[in-house]
Order: sequence, then C-alpha cells, then structure tokens
Amino acid sequence: MNKWEKMDKDYIWHPFTQMKGWVENPQLVIERGEGVMLYDTEGKAYYDGISSLWVNIHGHHRPEIDQAIKEQLDLIAHTTLLGLVNKPSAEFAEKLVKATPNGLNKVFYSDDGSTAVEAAVKIAFQYWQFKGRPEKANFINLGDSYHGDTVGAVSVGNIDVFHKAYKSLLFPTYKMSCPSFYHSHLAGIQNEAQYLAYLLEELESFLQKNANKIAAMIIEPLVQAAAGMLMQPKGYIKGVRELTKKYDVLLIVDEVATGFGRTGKMWACDNEGVCPDLMTLSKGITGGYLALGATMVTDEIYNAFLGEPTDYKTFYHGHSYTGNNLACAAGLASLEIFQKDSVIESLPPKMEVIARHMEKFNKMQYVGDARQCGMLSGIELMQDKEGKVPFDPALQMAGGICQAARGYGLIVRNIGDVVIFMPPLVSTTEQIDEMLTKLEKSMKDVLDKFGNGQHYSDPCAF
Ligand SMILES: Cc1ncc(COP(=O)(O)O)c(C=O)c1O
Repeated sequence: MNKWEKMDKDYIWHPFTQMKGWVENPQLVIERGEGVMLYDTEGKAYYDGISSLWVNIHGHHRPEIDQAIKEQLDLIAHTTLLGLVNKPSAEFAEKLVKATPNGLNKVFYSDDGSTAVEAAVKIAFQYWQFKGRPEKANFINLGDSYHGDTVGAVSVGNIDVFHKAYKSLLFPTYKMSCPSFYHSHLAGIQNEAQYLAYLLEELESFLQKNANKIAAMIIEPLVQAAAGMLMQPKGYIKGVRELTKKYDVLLIVDEVATGFGRTGKMWACDNEGVCPDLMTLSKGITGGYLALGATMVTDEIYNAFLGEPTDYKTFYHGHSYTGNNLACAAGLASLEIFQKDSVIESLPPKMEVIARHMEKFNKMQYVGDARQCGMLSGIELMQDKEGKVPFDPALQMAGGICQAARGYGLIVRNIGDVVIFMPPLVSTTEQIDEMLTKLEKSMKDVLDKFGNGQHYSDPCAF
C-alpha cells in the first residue's frame, strides 16, 4: 500500500461505498489522465469506461479546457454572483440558452446535479404561489427515479436502496410507474407501443383528478441512468410533455446524466422535440473538469419572481460557489469543442460499436438485458434470464465483473447487478471496441466461474 492509499483509508469516507470492504482491500490510486486513459501511481493504464462517473466528455488533460482554466486562473478563480457579475458565467449563460431547447431563456447556477434539482423543485413550488395557486404544491415523480442526494432531490427520488432509509425526512410525492420497457412485464405488457399507451393513460387519469394540487412532474428523459440504465419507450417524454401542458403542470426534465450528447443528441429532449419548463444540467457541463450545476427556466417562470424588494418575490436560494469563474470558463471551452469537433455528428459510428457488443452480450447465459441509448449502456445480469430471476445480491456479481475489469485495464462501475458502460464521447470506435472486448473478458471470467460453482465478488460495492 502506498502512502496515498494509506492516507485515504485513514481519513476518507467514500461516496456510495461500503467502507469496511474498502479499507480491507487494495485500492487504485489514480495519478493522472490523458484522453480516455487514467494512470495509477504504478504507471498502469486504464480506460475510463464510465467517464469518471459520467462527467468526462472530451477526454482528460484536454488542452483547450486546460488552457481556458489557466487563462481564467490568471485573472481570478472565483467571485460571488451575489451582487456581482463575472465574465465567464455571463458568457456561458448566453451559450447555454442558445444550446438548450428554445424557450429556456434563463440560467440559475448552482454546484452540481443535486443542487440543480433542489433549485428546480423550489422554483416550481414557489412559482404557483406567485401565480395565486398555492394549492399546486405537490410533485409527480417516476418509479426508480434518481435526482441526487440532497434531501429535496431524495424526496423526488424513488430507488429504495438509496432512499428508503430517509422516508420520514422527505416530502411525499405521487409516483407513476417506472417507464422502463424492460420492466413492462410487471404490468403484464410485452409490446412497447402498448406499454407507452399504458403509461400515458396512467398519467392522464391521475392528472384529470389531481392536477389542481400538482406543481410539477419531474423526469429523467429517455434513460433512468442511476436506476441501472432503464430505457423508456419511444414517445414517452413527448407524451408526458403534452399531458403536463394540457393539465397545467410544470415539467422538470433532469438532464444531469443524459445532457451534453450522451443520448446521441445534445439533449435527450432533442430526440422527441420536447421543451420542458425547467431543465437541470450538471455532470458534462464543464466537460467533466469542475463542479457546476444549472437550472434552466422559461421566461414565464422567471417573470413570476419579478417584483419590488418588499414584494418578497426574490428567489431566496444560492450557493457560495454559484457560477464559479473557473467552472464557467471550462464550460465555455467544452461547448466550443462540441462545435469545433462536431462531437454530436461524430457519435453514430461509436454508438454502432456499442450496439454490436450489446447484441453479443445479450446472447450470454447470465445477461438478462444489455441495453443502450446513444452512448449510455448497461448490462443487467440475471441468474435465470427467461424467468427474470436475479442473482442473490450477496454474490455481488456485477461488482465482481468491475473488479475483474481492472485486471484488463478498464474502469467500469456497477449499480446493483447492472454494469454501467459510459465512455467519454471523445473515445474512438477502436477504443470503444477495445474497452468492450475487455469488459467481455471480465464478464466471462466471473460468469464462467459462477457456472463452475465459484464466485468472485466485490467487497467494496454498496
Ligand atoms: C439524473 C440525475 N440527476 C441528478 C444527479 C445528481 O448529480 P450530482 O451527483 O452531481 O449531485 C444525478 C447523478 O447521478 C443524476 O443521474
């Protein structure tokens, strides 16, 4: 164990990590990165197969973003947005408004995905008070939704393993069925179009009776990433937009995981021509360099908060590092790379390579479902794929695969028994192919061992 690993184990409590297993087992210490590779203190190279937890877009140590941060650092690292303007946050806000769906004209900055969601929830809630309809004070969310770990974001989340313990601390919400087509059998439906109709009927019949007490519906569009890459039927977000409009309920689309190209378009919303009332952004917003969140809103919402100081319509919410100068400089450089390198246009052949591998994975004995949307993919393991019988969680099968992958020089991370694969958008087709070949070998190692009555688990998984 080198000195950093020892210091880490002595002093750090890691996120989403069972620390007992962490301190008892050897851990990797990452020292530097270059493009899609990470290097540990021994000089060993690993592919970053999860974009450093879904944030990295254009690769590590990217000269244009490094340079933009250095130039900003030579001027100033941080100034407050409370009472002052800063240049990069103003320029970045203009660019975000231009880049996001038409109608989202104002940016409320925060620090990360959770705070972007907190702000969205509070804005939606208060909006109705200013419209003279304070009874519209509740939220609709989706089964298996995830919107972050602060208490408001947890309230609109619905994943038992993450959220159940806090139930009595949270505000209640109205939960719609998880729209994942893979789980449609739970409703006894095997056909995607029928499942879409079922979901929209469920929502409409709820809204018919309850819209007068609902402030907003919050969704992750197309893919519920933290639930294990659950994919929604085509037409779902468009249908939700039409119904929320029809029943005068605000729509918050959380693009924290799906935004900045991950679904193959700049925004998941672009896949179905949807413009929400509020949109939350983070993760890829700075190319994966620095913490930043943004809540985009329409003029209608922004204008509802305007008034004299003594009208007390001010949005009393903000964070110390809101609109941080360095983070916004990184965000500007990242958006420039999207344009200069035609990043979105470069994605289809990369997505095809992922699709080819997913097809292969789907033929493996213990793969229940290997699914993909754009550059997002997940491989769900099942002990019995026909009967959809999961593995005993104590076996930590997917965690074992992620550990095995490190031996082949690939970093991936599981959520439950789903292995998540989400490479930086800059990865070449050859690199993606190599990453997924390494993943296949790791899967074979672990799954064949299981077939032979042994197992290979990850004691550090959550
Ligand atoms: C859809 C979604 N919203 C919000 C968050 C929370 O973001 P953060 O971890 O930056 O607080 C996440 C994180 O995975 C997410 O996937």
